[in-house]
Amino acid sequence: MSKYIINGCNKIEGTLRIRGAKNAILPIMAATILNESISIIHNVPCISDVFVMIRILESIGCKVSYSEDTLIIDSSNVNFNKIDEEYVRKMRSSIIIMGAMIGRLECIEISHPGGCAIGARPIDLHLKALECLNVKIEEHDGVISCCRQYLEGNEIRFERTSVGATENAMLAAVKARGITKIYNAAKEPEIEDLQNFLNAMGAKIKGAGTDYIEIEGVDKLDKVEYSVIPDRIAIGTYMVASAMTGGRLEVEKAIRAHMEPISNVLTNAGCNINYTESGLTLIPPKKIKTIDFLKTSPHPGFPTDMQSQLMSLMTLSDGITIFFETIFENRFMHCKELIKMGADIKLLTDKICMVTGVESLCGGKVKSTDLRGGASLVLAALAAEGETEISDIYHIERGYENLEEVLRSLGADIRRI
Ligand code: EPZ
Repeated sequence: MSKYIINGCNKIEGTLRIRGAKNAILPIMAATILNESISIIHNVPCISDVFVMIRILESIGCKVSYSEDTLIIDSSNVNFNKIDEEYVRKMRSSIIIMGAMIGRLECIEISHPGGCAIGARPIDLHLKALECLNVKIEEHDGVISCCRQYLEGNEIRFERTSVGATENAMLAAVKARGITKIYNAAKEPEIEDLQNFLNAMGAKIKGAGTDYIEIEGVDKLDKVEYSVIPDRIAIGTYMVASAMTGGRLEVEKAIRAHMEPISNVLTNAGCNINYTESGLTLIPPKKIKTIDFLKTSPHPGFPTDMQSQLMSLMTLSDGITIFFETIFENRFMHCKELIKMGADIKLLTDKICMVTGVESLCGGKVKSTDLRGGASLVLAALAAEGETEISDIYHIERGYENLEEVLRSLGADIRRI
C-alpha cells in the first residue's frame, strides 16, 4: 500500500490551481443518465471517486471518455438497471445514482451502501423522498429495488437536512409529472451546481442554495456542456497548509460565497485573507490564534469536511479550542494519529474534543483513517519537525487530485512510495 513521506517545516506558498469539486462532480455525473444524450463536463478532477463513477456509468451502458479535465458521457443507451454491489461498497456516495436511474428507468436495483468509517450513513431520507414521488421501494438481503410506473411530482419535507437525499430527490423529480416542492433542502454549493447543470440540460429547477427547491417536471432533456465549480474543501485544505507553515498562498479560482464559511474562521485564527477578481490570497499569521470554539454545521455553517484540517491548524495555536462535530458520529479518528505527532488533544465525548496548542509537532509514523482525517495528517506533517510517514493514503487520493505534485509545486518536501 502506498505511503507519503514528508519532511516538514518547508513553507507551503505560491499559486494554487484547483479543479472541480468532488462533491459536485459525482451528482452531476449521475445526472447525465437523464438526458439520454451527450454531456460534456469540464474542470473534472482526476480523483479515484470519479473513476469509480465512470465505471458505474459504463456498467449500465453509458459510453464515457475522460481526457485532460473533460468528461464526455453518452447516455443514449442505458440498458442495464442494476448497480453492482462492488461499486457501492467501494464508494458509498454512489447511492446518488439512484435518483437519476429511477428518473430514467421504471425499475432499478442498487445494494444498500451501508456505513463507512465516519458514520452509519443511513439513507432513510433518500428512500422517503423517492416514495413521495410514487416510487415503490423494497429491500431484500441488502438490495434496494425501486419501481414506478411514472414519477408523480409531490411535496417532500425532510425532517433533517441531507445533501445526498436532496440531490437524489432533485434527480428523480426532474422528469416527474407536475411540480415537486422540497422543504428543508440542504443548501450546500454543490446542490446549486447540480441545479445549474440540470437546468443547462433543460430542466426547470429553482431555489437550490436555499432550503426550498421547486422542480417543474419536463418530458425531455437535451445535450449539455458545463464546467464544475471549484472544490471549496480542497482549497480550504491548502489554505490551512500555508497558514500552518507560514507560506503566502494565491488561489487562482475560488468562489467567495462558497469559501467564506472557511475563510472567516481562518481570519479569526490570524490569517489575512483577501478576495481577488476570481480567487483569493492568504497571508499567514506569525502565530496561529485559537478560535476558542468550532461547531460544524450544514452550509452556510462551518463544513464538517474541514473539521479535521482545522484541528491540525489549532494544534499549533496559542490556546485552547473546543471542537463540536455535529454532522457525523465518528469523525475524530484523526485525533489519535495527531497525538502521535505531539498534538495535545483530549476527547471529551464522541462528538466534542479539546485541542490545546503546542509549540511544535514532531514527525512520526501515522495512518490515514478516512479522506479528510488523512488530509489533516498531511497538514500536520508539513508543519512538523522531521520526517513523517503516512500510510493508507488511498483514502486521501479519493478526494485530492495530484496531492503530491500540487504540494511539491508549493514547496513541500514530499514523496510517494
Ligand atoms: C455529503 O455526504 C458529502 N459527500 C460529504 O462529504 C459531506 O460531509 C456531507 O454531505 C455533509 O456536508 C458527497 O457529497 C459525495 P448528508 P452525504 O446526507 O450526502 C444523516 C467528504 O469528505 N443522514 O448531508 O452522505 C447522515 O448520517 C464527504 O467529501 C440520515 O440520517 O451527507 C449525517 O449524519 C464526507 N439519513 C447527516 O445526515 C439519510 O437518509 C448529514 O449527511 C441521509 C443522511
